[in-house]
Amino acid sequence: VSLGIDIGTSSCKAVAVGPDGSVVAAASADYPLYTPGHGRSEQDPEDWWTAANQCVRQVTRALSAEGAEVTAVGLSGQMHGLVALDSDNKVIRRAILWNDQRCDPECTAITEKAGGIERVIEATNNRLITGFTAGKIRWVRDYEPENFARLAKVLNPKDYLRFRMTGVFATDVSDASGTGLYDVAARRWSELMLEATGIRAEMLPQVAESTDVTGTLLPQVARDWNVSSDVPVFGGGGDAVIQTLSMGITRPGDIGVTLGTAGIVAAASDFCPDNKQGKVQVSCYNRPGYWHVMGVSLTAAGALQWLADTLQELGPDAGISFSKLVGLARNTPPGADGLLFVPYLAGERSPHYAPSASAGWVGLTRMHRLGHLVRSVIEGTVLNMREILETLQDLGITCERIIASGGATREPFWLQTMADIFGREVVTLTGCAEGGAYGAAITAGVGAGNWDSFDEAFANLRVDASYQPDPANHQFYLGVFEGHRRLFQDLTEVYK
Ligand code: XUL
Repeated sequence: VSLGIDIGTSSCKAVAVGPDGSVVAAASADYPLYTPGHGRSEQDPEDWWTAANQCVRQVTRALSAEGAEVTAVGLSGQMHGLVALDSDNKVIRRAILWNDQRCDPECTAITEKAGGIERVIEATNNRLITGFTAGKIRWVRDYEPENFARLAKVLNPKDYLRFRMTGVFATDVSDASGTGLYDVAARRWSELMLEATGIRAEMLPQVAESTDVTGTLLPQVARDWNVSSDVPVFGGGGDAVIQTLSMGITRPGDIGVTLGTAGIVAAASDFCPDNKQGKVQVSCYNRPGYWHVMGVSLTAAGALQWLADTLQELGPDAGISFSKLVGLARNTPPGADGLLFVPYLAGERSPHYAPSASAGWVGLTRMHRLGHLVRSVIEGTVLNMREILETLQDLGITCERIIASGGATREPFWLQTMADIFGREVVTLTGCAEGGAYGAAITAGVGAGNWDSFDEAFANLRVDASYQPDPANHQFYLGVFEGHRRLFQDLTEVYK
């Protein structure tokens, strides 16, 4: 079996995937997230290591009870985070995570040093956003000079785990793409960006394709995990990228939409798109020779969760639940009687890079009830994702159908609203599992030859449910979409 380990923002997950592509054992373990100040977000890499050990041991115990053996390991993890090591390979400070917003001024400084936004996009195929690793490195340089002086190695979260497992400093092409230091089109580090950030090339790990071997387990780790020490550890990938792969998306045509707290609209591409305006994130894909294009909207299902949490303040007797709220929305007409919701509760990355944007309702009148509020929240987030989809199509990405995954796909209403607003079939799949750990197990298994190809690994994928657009609703939503699109422009003054 292939083992996938994912270092998420709230927990570590390990899954073992059998020859038919199904999950045969799984475990997870949580760890704390620290918020040491406004907009700051950190974790202790030691906590990842402890959690990974716990999950993997649990999985290998279940496997040995079944007589199954691990033959390949793949890694996935939250992208962009900065793990800083000194020359004794010790962690210098807590990791600064992807959702830490402190380094906006440092991103501007690096961008200026590199010659402006266009030069940065030319060099890396992405604009430098606060999420990426480069700004965090520069922040340490500017604000913690004593830590910066000790800095010998820079790793992303899953690659710190790799180091503890194998003793090797390596990353994969998809995670490297999210550092802001990598030339995604050429698949190599960008000298221009290293210089602008103020680091040396030897501080960075070597970069492997996701299906390449990066090393084997250290003997002590293999003993602790009860697996053979010649088990290869493969490149794997950054979670937001490899979770597209875990939906079976290996070639152009299908668009993956992940409906979690954030919403991700993503596709595989056989060319490196020219991300001229920097509106989306372009990465090397986990399938060698392919690229991954995605727009991350920071608030999708998170908007309805926020509304539910807010109403929850009325107390348990109010009987608020996610599905009850969706029920109210279902009994409200499309377009929520003229009510629009702008979903930027956490600022925005895509379709507009606007860290200071905020959310709101527009068009509210006395006639609107709770069902209208809920419906407009769902529609607002989907309209926003449609804008991302259009941006992908402008870059030459084709869209034949939408594959949806993530927590909110449990609500059929959400999926039907997507089909109506996108004007495309929306499907959910069985035969695969959600998330990075599964994708990591698949890439490792393909790399190890457990499967001959990604197609073979995904041979058991089946459509679970399919939603067709309602032509009348779709037509109607085209008008609503124009209103939604204009709203962002109208609000730019407010966001300043
Ligand atoms: C992707 C991103 C997040 C993190 C967290 O660009 O910032 O999806 O990878 O998991």
